[in-house]
Amino acid sequence: MNNEEFRSYAHQVVDWMADYLENIRDYPVLPDIQPGALVDRLPAAAPEQGERMDEILKDFERSIVPALTHWNHPRFLAYFAISGSHPGILGEMLSGVLNVNGMLWKSCPALTELEQVTLSWLRQWMGLGPEFFGIIYDTASIATMHAIAAAREMADPEARTRGNSGHLTMYTSEHSHSSIEKGGITLGIGQDNVRKIPVDGAFRMQAGVLREMMTADRHAGKKPFCVVATVGTTSTSSIDPVPAIAAIAEEFGAWLHIDAAYGGAAAVVPELRYILDGAERAQSLVVNPHKWLFTPIDLSAFYTTRPDILRRAFSLVPEYLKTAEDPRALNYMDYGVQLGRRFRALKLWFVMRHYGHEGIAEMIRSHITYAQKLAGLIRSDPDFEVAAPTPFSLVCFRYRGSDEDNKALLDKINASGRAFLSHTVLNGRHALRLAIGNFATTWEDIEEVWELIKQSARNAP
Ligand SMILES: Cc1ncc(COP(=O)(O)O)c(C=O)c1O
Repeated sequence: MNNEEFRSYAHQVVDWMADYLENIRDYPVLPDIQPGALVDRLPAAAPEQGERMDEILKDFERSIVPALTHWNHPRFLAYFAISGSHPGILGEMLSGVLNVNGMLWKSCPALTELEQVTLSWLRQWMGLGPEFFGIIYDTASIATMHAIAAAREMADPEARTRGNSGHLTMYTSEHSHSSIEKGGITLGIGQDNVRKIPVDGAFRMQAGVLREMMTADRHAGKKPFCVVATVGTTSTSSIDPVPAIAAIAEEFGAWLHIDAAYGGAAAVVPELRYILDGAERAQSLVVNPHKWLFTPIDLSAFYTTRPDILRRAFSLVPEYLKTAEDPRALNYMDYGVQLGRRFRALKLWFVMRHYGHEGIAEMIRSHITYAQKLAGLIRSDPDFEVAAPTPFSLVCFRYRGSDEDNKALLDKINASGRAFLSHTVLNGRHALRLAIGNFATTWEDIEEVWELIKQSARNAP
């Protein structure tokens, strides 16, 4: 493709993108498609000869778009709703054309230094101190895995050379995200050494039980080395009692990691900063701008007060990657598993500058307001009940019927194409989850979905 062709196709693609975002409500949120349909539709082998871009773009519209789940749809309300906002998309496009690799400062100074700057800005918005060093990973799962590796390095530095000794134990709530247990599996801590602390009536870790379990383990010759608390759990968005957990982690000399992948974004709202109370005592924290900070997936911000330990856990520099030592030349490859690194900070920089602190805080505030208004409507309807507290923008609720009724209701809503909700199980009972997180979602969208929910329940077969 020559540059003139590139220019012309790029214009076409940008026009398509703008039309898509303008008309996104016309698309069904979930595709009406059977598993395997796209595989069957596309050729089984790649073309021998190159094909025309016109044809490729037509096939994108004909084959790929109908098989999409539209995550950028304002009525995508499943899991944790996310959004690739306009400025974030522009940043993502430019990062594609630059195609830089920020493994070392020298391999791309702009990437390395913009990552430092944007993560410092975000840290300040969340009310965290300058002692928190920031690094971008792809996802919170990977960020948490790095936190556990650093925790192991702090507790048992020889593990790096010798391998695990089998006596390290880690702690998290029974409502925490599976990535924490997966981190333990990946690092060879072993699932049997990942303790799940029960939650209270509001789905928060019971700090008293945490202390009891850590004490019992210590008496049994184990070494409690890592505690992971969550601010905004996946099922209900509950907030673990971080100050109490921090005190216990300190008592045992264990690393405290905070999974604020979703909820941390709310700390950007000045009057909600308190949700990170106690985080200043943690050794690390993760927040995902790709969840609730309007930044296209993927971009996970990881902060640690012990970058020295993280670096000790991972630094391994082959001769061909050695560069002159300069205290201001940060080599991010020393702080994690991956060598090659995308220019993710660019899209975050665009988002932060375009909306500003107030613009972002206002969007998050409105999502929380919509969630609370919806929870109020649900509470006042005798056929429905709210199934968990609503501290953020996630509403868990239940139709007052059987689990089967709730499953059927969810299927019916999602099959309509007008909204996409997800589910969870709370105290053994099926509940629906409606999460608001898209920059374009309006209160009218939520009202429309609430009508859809009620109609779907009342017209159930
Ligand atoms: C609380 C929490 N932590 C971690 C994750 C994992 O995030 P990622 O997909 O970035 O790995 C999620 C995903 O929803 C989550 O809700």
